Amino acid sequence: MRILLVGGGGREHALAWKLRQSPRVDRLFCAPGNAGIAALAECVETPADDVEGLLTLARKERIDLTVVGPEAPLCAGIVDRFREGGFRVFGPDKEAAELEGSKVFCKNLLRRHAIPTADFRVFQQARDAYSYLRSAAYPLVVKADGLAQGKGVSICATPAEAETAIRAMMEEKVFGAAGNRIIIEECLVGPEVSVLCFTDGQSILMLEGAQDHKRLEDGDRGPNTGGMGAFSPAPALDPHTRGIIEEDILVRVVHALRVENRPFKGILYAGLMLTRNGPRVLEFNVRFGDPEAQVLLTRMRCDLVSLMEATLEGKLDQVDVTWDARPAVCVVLASGGYPGKTEKGVAIEGLTDAVLAPDVWVFHAGTARARDGRVVTTGGRVLGVTALGKDLAEARDRAYQAAAKISFAGATFRTDIARRGK
Ligand code: AMP
Ligand code: GLY
Repeated sequence: MRILLVGGGGREHALAWKLRQSPRVDRLFCAPGNAGIAALAECVETPADDVEGLLTLARKERIDLTVVGPEAPLCAGIVDRFREGGFRVFGPDKEAAELEGSKVFCKNLLRRHAIPTADFRVFQQARDAYSYLRSAAYPLVVKADGLAQGKGVSICATPAEAETAIRAMMEEKVFGAAGNRIIIEECLVGPEVSVLCFTDGQSILMLEGAQDHKRLEDGDRGPNTGGMGAFSPAPALDPHTRGIIEEDILVRVVHALRVENRPFKGILYAGLMLTRNGPRVLEFNVRFGDPEAQVLLTRMRCDLVSLMEATLEGKLDQVDVTWDARPAVCVVLASGGYPGKTEKGVAIEGLTDAVLAPDVWVFHAGTARARDGRVVTTGGRVLGVTALGKDLAEARDRAYQAAAKISFAGATFRTDIARRGK
């Protein structure tokens, strides 16, 4: 089988690593990939959001299955275009991907189907949002409607903070058209977990829990990022809570999408807060998380291609997922300045040494190979150092020991990944 993997971040490196192990895979292509993925796949320089370019590539390389990592091409309709072209592709179509592409759509869907989430209001005009601030309870949460790379959420303790967030989104357009509409919602408290499932639009197959760390700095301080680290399983997720999440949230949202004529096939990712009143949806993503994929896929023991095919064929009820019982921890090394402006082209040392120990992986995100052969940074999140251990503490120690062997100028990382079990 000839597979095309779309994307070039840490999640896609983990996907490439896992797909490579499948006996079903003969050739693996990746667009655009990165320096790490290049060791596992034939990288082609087509950007992940160039849907027409990717379709041309799929025709040229006679691709049997396309796997889409990031949300942008899914929300742009890559699945619809590939299907029209006669290609098999893993992921939701454009209408189903709106669950992530528009928080307004997502929240209204949850409300229509009484799926537990924070209470909210939608605003189309900045002046209406400002006037609501006078009567609102604090803290509250301001969210841009559209895609903003995990950065479009502000938790505001005062009206002044909320006003700044609204101005940035709706008037200064820091997230572009993603800020044309905003949501202001109730601030929830509790541990946060990520629960992902495969779904064929009918059945769901839940994966083990994971937790990520979205804030830049230790102790959950500093700005929100795409994710500074992750671990799996999630100690906060007991079997009873898992059952509630499965029945009251995942099964119901899959059903809601089906009855609204947007059947969802692919990976459905629920970002949840475990509140005193039970689990509540913070957001849905329509793909693997990054860096959740790094910790889930290194623990997954079964064949990923078979799970993806069962999803596409509507046979998820006939398969199962098997897991390594050992926990995994992923520590992200980011460029200095992230999530703001970052330097590029900084040489990375120690990559070979870092993976000498067994069950340790360095998944590349923002890396490229320079002309002189050295691996250099391309900005943002750079590497996801991932390790298994007999327990969470050992997995964490092993990931940090490996990370300590790697250096590049300006590298920043959190020192408390998986430390509290959140
Ligand atoms: P989201 O992109 O919607 O998952 O939001 C990013 C992060 O903001 C989440 O991981 C939470 O930590 C936080 N967040 C989002 N919505 C809420 C909420 N209603 N209450 C408290 N924190 C929230
Ligand atoms: N780690 C959060 C995300 O992938 O959106």
